[in-house]
Parts: sequence; C-alpha cells; structure tokens
Amino acid sequence: MAQYVLSLDQGTTSSRAMLFDHDGKIAGMAQHEFAQHFPKTGWVEHDPMDILTTQLSAAVEVLARAHVRPRDVVALGIANQRETTIVWERESGKPVYNAIVWQDRRTADFCAKLHDEGHEETFRNKTGLLIDPYFSSTKISWILDNVDGARALAEQGKLAFGTVDSWLIWNLTSGKRHITDRTNASRTLLYNIVEDRWDADLLKLLRVPESMMPEVVWSSEKVGRVTTTLGLGDVEIAGIAGDQQSALFGQLCVNPGDAKNTYGTGCFLLQNIGDTFTLSKERLITTLTCTTNKKLQYALEGSVFVGGAVVQWLRDKMEFFEKSPDVEKIAASVDSSNNVVLVPAFTGLGAPHWDPYAGGMIIGLQRSTEIGHIARAALESIAFQVTDVLHAMQADTSVGLTTMRADGGAAANDMLMQFQSDLLGIPVERPAILETTAQGAAYLAGLATGFWNDVEEIAKTRPEGQLFIPRMDPAIARKRYLKWQDAVNRSKGWNKE
Ligand code: G3P
Repeated sequence: MAQYVLSLDQGTTSSRAMLFDHDGKIAGMAQHEFAQHFPKTGWVEHDPMDILTTQLSAAVEVLARAHVRPRDVVALGIANQRETTIVWERESGKPVYNAIVWQDRRTADFCAKLHDEGHEETFRNKTGLLIDPYFSSTKISWILDNVDGARALAEQGKLAFGTVDSWLIWNLTSGKRHITDRTNASRTLLYNIVEDRWDADLLKLLRVPESMMPEVVWSSEKVGRVTTTLGLGDVEIAGIAGDQQSALFGQLCVNPGDAKNTYGTGCFLLQNIGDTFTLSKERLITTLTCTTNKKLQYALEGSVFVGGAVVQWLRDKMEFFEKSPDVEKIAASVDSSNNVVLVPAFTGLGAPHWDPYAGGMIIGLQRSTEIGHIARAALESIAFQVTDVLHAMQADTSVGLTTMRADGGAAANDMLMQFQSDLLGIPVERPAILETTAQGAAYLAGLATGFWNDVEEIAKTRPEGQLFIPRMDPAIARKRYLKWQDAVNRSKGWNKE
C-alpha cells in the first residue's frame, strides 16, 4: 500500500493540507480560507478557533479526497504563519483573546519606547531581530496588559502562549504537548538564538512569565501522536517549522549561500549562512533555520510585509477583478505602469526600512491612468520590495547571488517573475512545485520517521524548474528602481500622529 506524509500549511489567509508520496509528488490538496479581522487601524486579528477548525477540516478533507486512510499516513509535518500570537487558558484550552497577527501594528509605540530606552542592541545581540511590532513578544505583553485578569492568571501559571504551531499541536494532542520548534521560537524576540534558550532577561523586561512559554523542540523529530478522533488519530507529528524556514528547506537550501524568496501574503527572502551567528549590517534579521542533525543553523532574512496581499487588496477593496489570477491579464492590457508607482505599505514597511508608521501610496497618477497601470504597478511593487532586500543581503554577505530561487503562490505569475529577473539582473529560478512551504514540512517529518533517508534521496525526486533570464536594458531597470526608492522614501512616517 502506498504511504504518504501529511503536511499542514497554516498560512495568514488560509489553512491548507497536502499529501506527499514517496516520489515527492502532491497526492492531494485541500484549502480553506478564513476571516481576517481589522478591529482598528493597524490591527489584524484571527479567531484561533477559525485557525484550528479550517486546518482540521482541510486535513480530514484531503485524506477523503485522495482516498488515503490515516493508517497510510506515516508522519505529519506542520508549517505555519510565524509570530502570530495566541494566549490560552491551560485548564479549558480557551484563548483569552483573538490571535494577534504578525502584520498587527498596535504595539508600535511600545516598540518605539523600548527603542528609546536603548534596548535595541540587547535584543539584537541575543535574538538576531530588531525591535518591531512584527515579532511576538510585545503582542504577548499587550494581551497581558489589556485583557481583564490575564496578567494575574499568567502569573499563577494558568496561561499558555504559543505561535500557531504550538496552538495546533496543543489541540492535536489534547493538551499533552505545549511545544514549539526553534524556527518559530526565533521569531518571538524572546528566544536567545546564540545560547539556544528562552532568555530570562528579555522575558523580565517584557514582563512575560516564563511559565507561559512552550518547550522548544527540533524541527525534524518525533514529538507526539495526534489524539483527536477526527480521522487523524495516532499519526506521528514529526516536522514543525515556521513557513518561511520550511520553504527554505523545501527548496533544499541546506548549504551556506543557498537562498530563496517566497512570494506569499508577504515576501520573505532567506539565505542560509551556516552555523555561525552573524548580524546584518543592512537591517536584515538573523533567524534559525530547520536542521535534521539537531544543530543550530542560521539564516539572514529580509521580510516584506505586503507581497501577494497587494493583489488581494486590488481584488477585495478596489474591486478591480474577481479572481486573483486575473491581475496578470489586466496588467498585461497595458505595456507599462505609465510612471505609476504603488507602495503597499499597508502594515508599515518591513526590511530593510522597518517603519511601522509608513503609509501605502500610489503616485504618478495622470488623466491617462487606467486600472491596468495600477495593477501593473501593484505587481511591480512586489518585485521592487524583493529587490530592496536582495540588495541589502548582497551588501551584507558579499556573496553575489548568481540565481534566486522563487516560490509561493504569486510566483506562478510570469510577468512578476520576468520583471523580478529584469530588476535583479540575475536569473530567477521557479521550481516545478511551487508549494515549497508544505513540501518543507513534509520533508522534515518524512526524514524524522525514515520515510526518506536523507536530503540526497529527496533531491533526486525534484523535477526541473523554469528559469527567467533578465531581458530589460539594465539602464532602464536602474531608472525604474530609483523612482521606486524615491516613492518609498515619501511613504515613510505617514501614519505617525
Ligand atoms: O512572518 C510571517 C510569515 O510567516 C507569513 O507567511 O505565507 O502566511 O504570508 P505567509
């Protein structure tokens, strides 16, 4: 009987489940979107029960659709949206507040205060991160300070904190395991990635009781069996990773120098830098990667907050089209953006600018501007932002990237891939399977359980991808990029009171 690894990809806008066979092929897929809540300007929340129910139903559905019995699933891997913060009662398992999503900016002033008090270097040297509302720690503090009774309960050891991986595993194991893996821990601004432990000083500074924190495990190891009766009973959980590190592993970027960019809700460029903790001089962050040898390995990361989400915005808020893929057709209805630049700083700006107060902007509008120009500018904004972080990374590592590996939903867009290659002046390689996030978690779980023996065996299963070669005159590409930089600078600080 054929056997499979089940991979759960719990993302920002949808929960997906995929089955991978031994040849690395996708044998089934199910996906459920869930509601996004924007209670105030700059706030983004999810209902933790929506996260759980959409994820469980996708998992059950994919088995049914592919006619696969749970007993033929050898392992379960989980990749998840990172930083998103959930706090729940240990006793009842009930969340005390909605999940505060990574994009949420409510703690911008608190972060500015920490910065002004001179804590930046301490956080940076211990966690590899910058002080920004993006990461989990200030979101936990906000919940403890703003939800009635939460701080008292936390101090009595009655509350648990987790990123989405912890929340899912807690529920899948009926509260038996309160764990997270190192890649997720490294996004909290509380995990010391040099000493490999929760950092007592940072916890104290943020007033977060250590009793709330999950146990930290490796990304590729058996951590417990699913106990829910929802048709997944007894499957071994053996892979956990933050979605971007999962994609890095899914692209088999396991050697220093290997890099990938995922075009998802946001865009995340990660480069493996090996086993030495190194800080960026270009305002990128240092983060932990997935390993299979129980040793720490680091990556530099450039995080762009709005990538494919700009297309969703054009669809849902501007109502320019009904289905996201239609953006390509509309953008292709014109042959340039006609000097229009769109800066999608909808949730501030991430790397390398790190400005939580930046505001989104469209500039260069004329009487002749059409929807097509704006759609084109929106797609181009994704590539411009990736160019910002790639330049920073190149300046940092002095290793010139010769190719960039792309993946994620928006990488299916040929126009975007071509423009990206034009701007970077290097080939962009798109793999045959774009689902590298789910693939990474499947590889991690499959390697921990002996489904695959090693990375070399997995590498042989990967079909060849497609290469996009630069075509634009480099002088024109440079001119376009300078215009972008000018526009980005104008968007900074816009939302500061
Ligand atoms: O750091 C945020 C990131 O993990 C979100 O990923 O795929 O949901 O955009 P995605």
